[in-house]
Amino acid sequence: MDWGISHIAIAVPSIERAAAALRRTYGMETGTPCENTAQGVRMAYVDLAGGGRLELIEPLSADSGVGRFLARNPGGGVHHISFATSDIDASLQRLARHEVKVLGDGQGRNVHGDRIAFIHPRDFLGVLIELEETT
Ligand code: CO
Repeated sequence: MDWGISHIAIAVPSIERAAAALRRTYGMETGTPCENTAQGVRMAYVDLAGGGRLELIEPLSADSGVGRFLARNPGGGVHHISFATSDIDASLQRLARHEVKVLGDGQGRNVHGDRIAFIHPRDFLGVLIELEETT
């Protein structure tokens, strides 16, 4: 198994306000936002030194998963950690053997077209985990 870090995702009420604050205070530059309507979010990335990235996610509606997260965490917070894996099917097969709860059908794709899957927080130290297949 290979587990790299793809990104750390932070839910925010407004990508524009978050990007302005990150630029002003930390000198971090945020890329152009895009929409993932299937997940009900807008998102934008901050590329960090060393290859890490932040993913800023803003809900498109209050009744989306991220919208409900923000209702519980006003002002925002860490939403998920994304691990990169070279073979998501092998990873999912391993997790199935350990009765890890994969959310949805495990056949999702991100805005870049990469396969992704989410693991319930109770199966990873209380943190929502995204697996992302990197080629
Ligand atoms: Co993500």
